Amino acid sequence: MNAHIDPQAMIEIDVWRIPLTSEPSEHDKLLDPDERRRAARFIFDSDRARFTRSRGTLRATLARYVDILPEQIKFDYGTHGKPTIRGCPIHFNLSHAGDWAYLAISTTTPVGIDVERLRPPARNGWIDLARRFFSKAEVTELLALPSSEQTKAFFACWTRKEAYIKLHGRGLSLPLGQFTVAADPKAPAILRSSEWCPDDTARTVLHDLSSPAGYRACLAVGTPLTITVQSKTWTAPVTLT
Ligand SMILES: CC(C)(COP(=O)(O)OP(=O)(O)OC[C@H]1O[C@@H](n2cnc3c(N)ncnc32)[C@H](O)[C@@H]1OP(=O)(O)O)[C@@H](O)C(=O)NCCC(=O)NCCS
Repeated sequence: MNAHIDPQAMIEIDVWRIPLTSEPSEHDKLLDPDERRRAARFIFDSDRARFTRSRGTLRATLARYVDILPEQIKFDYGTHGKPTIRGCPIHFNLSHAGDWAYLAISTTTPVGIDVERLRPPARNGWIDLARRFFSKAEVTELLALPSSEQTKAFFACWTRKEAYIKLHGRGLSLPLGQFTVAADPKAPAILRSSEWCPDDTARTVLHDLSSPAGYRACLAVGTPLTITVQSKTWTAPVTLT
């Protein structure tokens, strides 16, 4: 163990749950010209509204942590699109699915987050998709679970994996079969192994997040330390304070 790391230290992560169904809010006005152009490209009004709400509330929330007005925050983007705040060391990551966005914020440590809406499987269940995307060990763990558990297990595994790749900001350039998470939804979220980066097992915390019925969400934190999660929810209608 690194002699400089205090094993008693705790990393605090704020996780915001943002409802995307509320009536138009003041946050919608906070988008910059690039974001407005992205919003204009959505075909369906409902998708445009969700994007606008999640980006606007992202800005309003981040402004609580940094000394910048929400509409003046500038984002830089990593090679695979992970956003960071220009000139500011705050770590954050956003995910959205259906009527919810999840936003993780840390003042000290890189984070990744994923929320997914549970969907019914195709005719053959989830296993074909799992074989395509998951590691062999994850597929074996899924197959050992009763069929009534498969949907929950598939999305537990999916959100844990996606949170890990979003932590690293690598998108699908990080091969999904080259690391293994616990797939059983009742077992604690954990990174079991990573061929891609073996040291990550000792310095990655995965944490399943509470989620509304029909959703599953997971947080990944790049730290060897214990984490505490402060859950916060924007209540609708979202108003500026
Ligand atoms: C883009 C990607 C990061 C996530 O895509 P997604 O699951 O469709 O979307 P999410 O809602 O979870 O995340 C989107 C947000 O993540 C952030 N993001 C974008 N690129 C990112 C990256 N490379 N790393 C981390 N975060 C990223 C952005 O804030 C984005 O929101 P916005 O552009 O609307 O502001 C990428 O991982 C991807 O393409 N995934 C494909 C999904 C997949 O096959 N997953 C398999 C899991 S087993």
